[in-house]
Amino acid sequence: MEQKIITAKKNYRQLDEWLLGTKHPLLVCDPASIRFQPTFYTHIHTIHDLDWAEFRDFQPNPSYESVEKGVKLFREEKCDAILAVGGGSAIDVAKCIKLFARMEPGVCYLDQEIVPNDIPFLVMPTTAGTGSESTRYAVIYKDGVKQSVTHESAIPGTVLFDPDCLRSLPAYQKKATMMDALSHALESFWSVNSTEESKAYSREAIREILTHAGGYLLGRDECSEAMLRAANTAGKAINITQTTAGHAMCYKVTTLFGIAHGHATALCNRVLFPWMITNADKCTDPRGSIYLQKTLKEIAEAMDCDSALAAANLYQELFDSLELEIPEATEEQFELLKTSVNAERLKNHPIRLTDEDIDQLYHMILKTKA
Ligand SMILES: [Fe+2]
Repeated sequence: MEQKIITAKKNYRQLDEWLLGTKHPLLVCDPASIRFQPTFYTHIHTIHDLDWAEFRDFQPNPSYESVEKGVKLFREEKCDAILAVGGGSAIDVAKCIKLFARMEPGVCYLDQEIVPNDIPFLVMPTTAGTGSESTRYAVIYKDGVKQSVTHESAIPGTVLFDPDCLRSLPAYQKKATMMDALSHALESFWSVNSTEESKAYSREAIREILTHAGGYLLGRDECSEAMLRAANTAGKAINITQTTAGHAMCYKVTTLFGIAHGHATALCNRVLFPWMITNADKCTDPRGSIYLQKTLKEIAEAMDCDSALAAANLYQELFDSLELEIPEATEEQFELLKTSVNAERLKNHPIRLTDEDIDQLYHMILKTKA
């Protein structure tokens, strides 16, 4: 099913049309970000005489227990639609509520086969980066263990873009989320799972991000809307291919140095990109190293560069211009990092990374603490 994209255009008319089809929707909202959306919040509570149920009882890295509470509320209130507002956590919670809403309540939902349903599901992302609103993946935690919930019917049927949402974001968040979207587009482009369709999404997202990065960071509305679209398009690309080494290597960098996810992916990809160019002959993609070199050239074209190397340099220049910190690691931390790479994500990378490669790459990604 093609996802419908609607925009706020200051008046939420298209949202009103979607709401006309509902009677008792469940609003799943990020407790931190909803207070920054007063216009939206006032609007949805003053039209159509709708009786809203509201679910905010979750935290970042949401737990299974909080999702269970949301499902219970949806059932008890006899809700007929879900509208989610927020970043990755709110969207993941809403995706799980939608997936579990018609399943057996007495048994752990994670142990059951997902039963698809047609509950109307609209998402308004309040950051431009994760692209979570266009993927079938949701991540929640049960007893502290990460659980990936994956199903096509988790993808919202409708997405609302409101550039006003991005206005209150701190500059660091804007930069980091933008680089996350760019990492999705790049990693998907060179993934062993890429298809012509995913490459077209990647190409479009890369062009949009590079064209609008400056205006977006200056807070121009038209650029913010373009960035929301680009993040969504990059999400569609990773929905087909998943991410690769940049994401596989970034998770521990994020937690170890307390930096944003997108910042960590950019730290990794600014090193991986040129490394891949010089190591393309070690390609493990069944389509071969010539194919990988052609792909890197296609990325260069999408970035308006003459060669893959020029594109990698442009990426580095963009990273430098954002003045994102490069953390310093001790040898102990380097040891920890090289054993913490996500093996599942690494499988999607088109070049096999040996333990030695990973160690060397981390020493290039981070500074060494004297
Ligand atoms: Fe990401």
